[in-house]
Amino acid sequence: MIPVIPRPTLGFIGAGRVARALAAAAAQAGYAVTAIASRRLDAAQRVASALPGCAALPIDRPEDMNAVFSHADLVFLSVPDDAIATCAAHLAPRTGQALVHCSGASEVGLLAPATQHGAQIGGFHPLFLFAGLDDDATRMSGSAITIEADAPLSDTLHGLARAIGCHALSIPAGARMRYHAGANYAASFLLCLLDEATWLWQAIGMPEDDARDAMWPLVMGTLNAARERGLAGALAGPVSRGDASIVTRHTEALASLGDHHATLYSLLTLRAVRLARQRPHADNAALDAIAHAIAPYLPPAPPEGNP
Ligand SMILES: NC(=O)c1ccc[n+]([C@@H]2O[C@H](COP(=O)([O-])OP(=O)(O)OC[C@H]3O[C@@H](n4cnc5c(N)ncnc54)[C@H](OP(=O)(O)O)[C@@H]3O)[C@@H](O)[C@H]2O)c1
Repeated sequence: MIPVIPRPTLGFIGAGRVARALAAAAAQAGYAVTAIASRRLDAAQRVASALPGCAALPIDRPEDMNAVFSHADLVFLSVPDDAIATCAAHLAPRTGQALVHCSGASEVGLLAPATQHGAQIGGFHPLFLFAGLDDDATRMSGSAITIEADAPLSDTLHGLARAIGCHALSIPAGARMRYHAGANYAASFLLCLLDEATWLWQAIGMPEDDARDAMWPLVMGTLNAARERGLAGALAGPVSRGDASIVTRHTEALASLGDHHATLYSLLTLRAVRLARQRPHADNAALDAIAHAIAPYLPPAPPEGNP
């Protein structure tokens, strides 16, 4: 039986945005972060220099990654998703040690080659956008972390999540793609929507700085309202009012710009209609008229899943 290690020593392979924040948060919570390895030694040194007693290790050959297991019980493979399987094939942790990746999309099974000497494997995916900011480690507090591991590693990872001020979530096996696609909407795709907004404003001659400055109160106000009232409750704009003629004129204006602007708008309007139908006293006839107005701009309907 592999023992539960309540406070394992921690190591990282890959010294990027996640490693930097997670290592700092764990160290602040009293965990010993003992080694960070990276192909660019200066990157590992930069992370390690902020952590007392942490060794920065070079990766000149793939086998060098195993040096981290001489320092740490629990090792995070915090490399890009495309490198996880290749790296895992070179790793040989021992019984009592654990190898964990931080990806939301990649299966935990990619780490399976590393289990041949009895080590445990798992997934530890923070639902937080690490942009490489200096205070990512403190800003991530309060986030959810999705954990996939068998006992006793799952207990160890839950303990770490709690210690760094986060809370643990679990997802069923085989659900990672839908789970991670959802996370994309709540993070990077928000940025894409804001890019579309500022692009449209700049296209009518608004200076970039003015466009960005104008955006923040609107964005933050919307998110705060959504937090207080829920998504349907916070909905504003023409769909919430049932203004089909405005939606029609929006789509016409956007269609003249080409490049799928009207398609993007119409797909999102379809979602807004679905939210609006959840509001008390929804005017379903007006919402039907809006759905009708955007129909010409929508791609062919998928077999199922329409609002
Ligand atoms: N960023 C986020 O918001 C976020 C959020 C949650 C989860 N994640 C997940 O966390 C993991 C790491 O993401 P990240 O954003 O921290 O990536 P990142 O900032 O790009 O850092 C990845 C690190 O891996 C190293 N690396 C790249 N290829 C390698 C290879 N073939 N072998 C060994 N090391 C390699 C790179 O350093 P060297 O080139 O020096 O080796 C780099 O420092 C990914 O699985 C990602 O899906 C990211």
